[in-house]
Amino acid sequence: MLIDTHSGTRIDEIADGIHRISTPMPPSVFPGGFSFNQYLVLDDEPLLFHTGMRSIFPLVREAIAAVMPLERLRYLALSHFESDECGALNDFLQVAPHSVPVCSTTAAMVSVGDFALRPPRALADGEMLRIGKRQLMWLDTPHLPHNWETGLMWEPGSRTLLCGDLFTQGGHELPPLTSDDLLAPSEAFRRAGVAAGEPDPYSLGPGTATILERLAGLQPRTLAVMHGSVFQARRDDDGAAMLRGLARELVH
Ligand SMILES: [Fe+2]
Ligand SMILES: [Fe+2]
Repeated sequence: MLIDTHSGTRIDEIADGIHRISTPMPPSVFPGGFSFNQYLVLDDEPLLFHTGMRSIFPLVREAIAAVMPLERLRYLALSHFESDECGALNDFLQVAPHSVPVCSTTAAMVSVGDFALRPPRALADGEMLRIGKRQLMWLDTPHLPHNWETGLMWEPGSRTLLCGDLFTQGGHELPPLTSDDLLAPSEAFRRAGVAAGEPDPYSLGPGTATILERLAGLQPRTLAVMHGSVFQARRDDDGAAMLRGLARELVH
């Protein structure tokens, strides 16, 4: 559903009760084009995974309001502390009076506990967060792809991995959902940046392969990425195969 014709912000249900909000950035703003996604997980206590930057707050707010009353938002989760993950965190805390930030224990300690207008709900690795009929698991993924406080969320009911910056694709006209390979386009995008002299967005560490293997072991059906198209597996092991492929690209 298109929310705003000027910006192109839209919201689409990409798994049962999980909505992708996406705002494209044209090449005039971001060379080659880009996109910023947030995920709204509906239930008794709805969860928003990433708020987007402060600059797109009105657009993300409008997209959520098209699906449910904004005041119902309960959890504002973030993978790590960057503007596209949580720039509008305090704006949402103000318009959704019952909402609280959700993040890793490290993120709570180093950034969110101080920055946010209300104290965060800090989740330990493997901890479940019940939001109604469904619950989500917090997975610590330090330094994957960057920042020591980083973590991801797993929704076992729909087998959806909210995988943040993993499989980041360039471009601003990508479809909400695809079953095509994301590894090749995302690696091409990363390598083009590195070849142009930009720093590698991945902070490789001794734990990289182990973390990716753990994510692959979940056998995700849907990879809900923050930048680009969501991957929907055709076969049970397609998501795992792509995560293992990423490990092969990163760890030699
Ligand atoms: Fe990031
Ligand atoms: Fe990001």
